[in-house]
Amino acid sequence: MRSRTNLVPRLGIVLGSGLGGLADELAGPVAIPFDELPGWPAATAPGHVGRLILGRLDGVPVAMLQGRLHLYEGNDPGLVVQPVLLMGRLGASTVVLTNAAGGLNPAYAAGTLMLIADHINLTGRTPLLGPNADEIGPRFPDLTDVYAPANRERLHAAAEAEGTSLEEGIYVGLLGPTYETPAEVRMFRGLGGDAVGMSTVLEAIACRWAGIEVAGISLVTNPGAGYSGEPLNHEEVLAAGAAAGPRLARVIRRFLRELP
Ligand code: HPA
Repeated sequence: MRSRTNLVPRLGIVLGSGLGGLADELAGPVAIPFDELPGWPAATAPGHVGRLILGRLDGVPVAMLQGRLHLYEGNDPGLVVQPVLLMGRLGASTVVLTNAAGGLNPAYAAGTLMLIADHINLTGRTPLLGPNADEIGPRFPDLTDVYAPANRERLHAAAEAEGTSLEEGIYVGLLGPTYETPAEVRMFRGLGGDAVGMSTVLEAIACRWAGIEVAGISLVTNPGAGYSGEPLNHEEVLAAGAAAGPRLARVIRRFLRELP
């Protein structure tokens, strides 16, 4: 990375399904396809381009991940979190994780933006399995406030200033790649979940381990399986992401401009 650019990002931003358009707004972009970084595979998920891009957004130096590495692609948990750890190594003190998600909260229609207040990791995986790298973080990281309360307040303020409603709830992270069964959706709702998806939780864990602050926003692209009576499909997810993505982008840009 350092042979390509000296830019020190203030913030890292991971762009979820259908949200990749924000990367086109970067000034002076230096884009590196995943598979040009040692040990990284090409991104395979449709809707994910698979590039790490450094540049300036509204004057603020940022690192953006356009697309991400998912567990369901067969990636090891340790690899899934390499991008956010790299962002931290490049200098980002905060990482904003975005994702497309299904609504577990029956009040969430497609297009709802949900600030992640906390998560439930049901992937059955952790990026921290194995000997601990003590120079990066502790063996037993605290996850009390994964999604820093100060960032949540700032994001609510940013959404209000942009005239966009922003819910707040619990994200349930699963392995995928199937969407859930209606019985699972009812169970995850019963467990306290508001939105469900196939990413984010491992990245958030790795960031907290490494001392990187985290903010998370889900874009609800569809009601959870069984709520509408209609089958779910990835095209619908991408379309809803594309439709509501610009609203999420405005919130993130204001958040970034108003960082202390
Ligand atoms: N379930 C899991 N992941 C998702 C969904 C969903 O309904 N929608 C978008 N990502």
